[in-house]
Amino acid sequence: MPIYHKLGKLPTKRHTQFEKPDGGLYYEELFGTVGFEGMSSLLYHLHRPTQVKQVGESKDITPKVAVDRNMKARKLIGFQVPPADDFLESRVPLLVNTDLIFGLAAPRKSLRDYFYKNADADELLFIHKGSGVLRTMLGNISFEYGDYLIIPRGMIYQIDFATEDNRLLYLESHHPIYTPKKYRNWFGQLLEHSPYCERDYKLPEQLETYNEKGDFLLKIKKQGYLHELMYGYHPFDVVGYDGYNYPWGFSIHNFEPITGRVHQPPPVHLTFETSAFVVCSFCPRLYDYHPKAVPAPYNHSNIDSDEVLYYVDGDFMSRNDIAQGHITLHPGGIPHGPHPGAMERSLGKTRTDELAVMVDTFRPLMLTEEALKLDDGKYYLSWLSKNEAIN
Ligand SMILES: [Fe+2]
Repeated sequence: MPIYHKLGKLPTKRHTQFEKPDGGLYYEELFGTVGFEGMSSLLYHLHRPTQVKQVGESKDITPKVAVDRNMKARKLIGFQVPPADDFLESRVPLLVNTDLIFGLAAPRKSLRDYFYKNADADELLFIHKGSGVLRTMLGNISFEYGDYLIIPRGMIYQIDFATEDNRLLYLESHHPIYTPKKYRNWFGQLLEHSPYCERDYKLPEQLETYNEKGDFLLKIKKQGYLHELMYGYHPFDVVGYDGYNYPWGFSIHNFEPITGRVHQPPPVHLTFETSAFVVCSFCPRLYDYHPKAVPAPYNHSNIDSDEVLYYVDGDFMSRNDIAQGHITLHPGGIPHGPHPGAMERSLGKTRTDELAVMVDTFRPLMLTEEALKLDDGKYYLSWLSKNEAIN
């Protein structure tokens, strides 16, 4: 997505005859988004990519909503999501609306038995624990702790994990996930004030190309269902491609925080954006350096967005009783802010080592049945002073 990229072999001119060494032609495919207006790549297959042998079962995996009108601050204990062997079955959707699914997963096994494609949504995987290789039809990306992986819709992929101890945050976005417009010039290049640049991207490498005939199961997510289609050739049969539509990665550890003399607002942490939500990275950084600065954030009213924070690592100074893997949801419409004592505690502090991912959605989020199982049930009372607490 972010820059022009090519792998493998290509004909010198697009849409012309591209001959195989042993006769015949490679099969060209335009893999594009937003009709023919968005980003696209041109792929060259060994076989026609259309050879469906069988259409099997379709399974409804629509998240089960338990609370559709939420006006309560929540804390979810994310590491209570149980591990599961299968990559897709390990996914637990927690917060949803018509624009996205926000969930956690603790997959134990590499995905090797079938191939997967999300036809509904761009996917963002954030690697909290674990390492491995994202294997796609357009090349592989090695990942480790702290990586964001952006997988555009329609991408066929598998995933290898180095161990069984993995924790992921995942988003499924019905809107394309882009780098923030404010960081780009008119040509798309990231500007000098951007907290990251093109050099930080993890681009796909090592194109795996298989010339194999057989039965290849592809599970495709579309309209909340998982459909099973059997293909006659290995889905990784691309010999080359170029363009802008491909998976890519970016490490949160390469995000260079923007700091100031007084408290900087959350948009300085902006990392990715869509037309329906933003993703921000809160990274280790120096605190505000005005002599009278208050490093803890001020109370704020996110009047027209729901705010979700996923705590990754470090010390979360503005919050009491927060640990790794916790999620807080601050619903739009009511203010939130530092916990009792946090503002005072922050005075004189010079730096923070907090690491967190924030997702702000422009439409309210609904909680799933699984989310309620992780809910601590009392977070909404946590801003009361101890002697005011009612339980
Ligand atoms: Fe906030």
